[in-house]
Amino acid sequence: MSIPPALCTEAEIQQLVEQFYARVRADTHLGPIFEANVQDWDAHLHLLHQFWSSVLLRTGRFTGSPMTKHAELKGLSATLFSQWLAIFAQVCAQQTNQAMATQALAMAERMAQSLWMGWQMQRTERKQHNADDQSLATELPRVASTSLGNA
Ligand code: HEM
Repeated sequence: MSIPPALCTEAEIQQLVEQFYARVRADTHLGPIFEANVQDWDAHLHLLHQFWSSVLLRTGRFTGSPMTKHAELKGLSATLFSQWLAIFAQVCAQQTNQAMATQALAMAERMAQSLWMGWQMQRTERKQHNADDQSLATELPRVASTSLGNA
């Protein structure tokens, strides 16, 4: 039985990660959140490379805890997650390897949805006695990957 070709190379993942975070750091709204929370950018980019390598190539190289890390971030919003996804979609559209880009965008959208729900739940738990904060958690609007049938 022949082994199917890999979806992408580690070099293609590295390029995706580097291009995306260069854009995010320059973003007016997202940039300051990263600058306030990321002390070592080389280590962050390495970690995010490991994350995407685990997601796209199933290498198992990532052992972080995104839900906990994002739940601790202050001031997140649906608008910020949508902006994060919009930039990710733009960077994906520029990749030569569109099979990788399609998978990455579908995964990013699922992950954003889940991180946003987790962030809202965390906030509700902290404020559970506040009568003004009993609203249901909201979902993010769908982005490009929905039309690809992967969402
Ligand atoms: C509004 C949107 C987002 C913001 C502002 C944001 C910001 C951040 C920041 C500041 C960190 C570093 C946290 C720390 O080391 O203490 C981080 C880590 C990380 N982010 Fe995000 N992020 C966002 C959305 C996403 C999405 C949608 C994904 C997945 C596709 C993602 C994947 C990750 C991963 C894998 C880490 C490393 C977690 C770990 O250390 O275990 N982020 N993010």
